[in-house]
Amino acid sequence: MQDPVSGDVASVFTQLVDARKSARGFSREPVPQTVLDQVFGAALRAPSNCNTQPWQTHVASGDKVEELRTKLPEAFMKGEFTMDFPYDGKYEGVYKERQYASAEALYSAMGITREEKDKRNVAFMRNFTFFDAPHVAFLFLPEPFGLREACDLGMYAQTLMLSMVAHGLACCPQTALSFMAGQVREVLDIDPGNRLLFGLSFGYEDEQHPSNRCRTERAELADITHFHGS
Ligand SMILES: Cc1cc2nc3c(=O)[nH]c(=O)nc-3n(C[C@H](O)[C@H](O)[C@H](O)COP(=O)(O)O)c2cc1C
Repeated sequence: MQDPVSGDVASVFTQLVDARKSARGFSREPVPQTVLDQVFGAALRAPSNCNTQPWQTHVASGDKVEELRTKLPEAFMKGEFTMDFPYDGKYEGVYKERQYASAEALYSAMGITREEKDKRNVAFMRNFTFFDAPHVAFLFLPEPFGLREACDLGMYAQTLMLSMVAHGLACCPQTALSFMAGQVREVLDIDPGNRLLFGLSFGYEDEQHPSNRCRTERAELADITHFHGS
């Protein structure tokens, strides 16, 4: 039987999960390597099918993050998309409603209206300059892995994000960064057998940045979780 988690630990866990949010404004102050080792080390405990740990993480900092900060917006503006996994970004029904609500929460936190398309574009382009973060982690799925291993990578990613928050860092997971998988591999000299699922900008939160006032809603427990049996 698993050891029971004490009341205190459960409450700290809830606080931790609650404290994580997608941050879109960072200070440029780099995170010390000792902290990076602890943060990424703790995330290694994430579970995976048959404990295969089918992920490779590449963290860009310093000159490499600056090179990417220049090259990715240029590539995006030229339409040079090199994604490894298909993406159409189209949702229907309740999923579309949630997508719109999250965009609305973000843009209203930034004081941007629906009509201000230029400002929305500028805000979107900040994806490719990592929202000013000093570091970006790229999460790769080695070939020939597919759907099941992508789920493993998702579990690793959430463990990593919670580890970041527990260590006083903020982060933003970004599918947008996967649009430029080829350019990322080239700059970081990564084997083409590694396919980029998404990236994660991270560092110390800029608490003054308006985007960081954004808080998203969640569905009700009964809409998501269905308990069966007596
Ligand atoms: C796999 C994944 C990819 C995401 N991609 C982006 C992205 O490209 N750009 C962005 O600004 N936010 C991105 N997000 C953040 C979501 O918009 C955010 O998680 C959602 O709105 C819930 O808000 P919260 O993270 O603040 O709780 C992504 C989140 C996940 C989990």
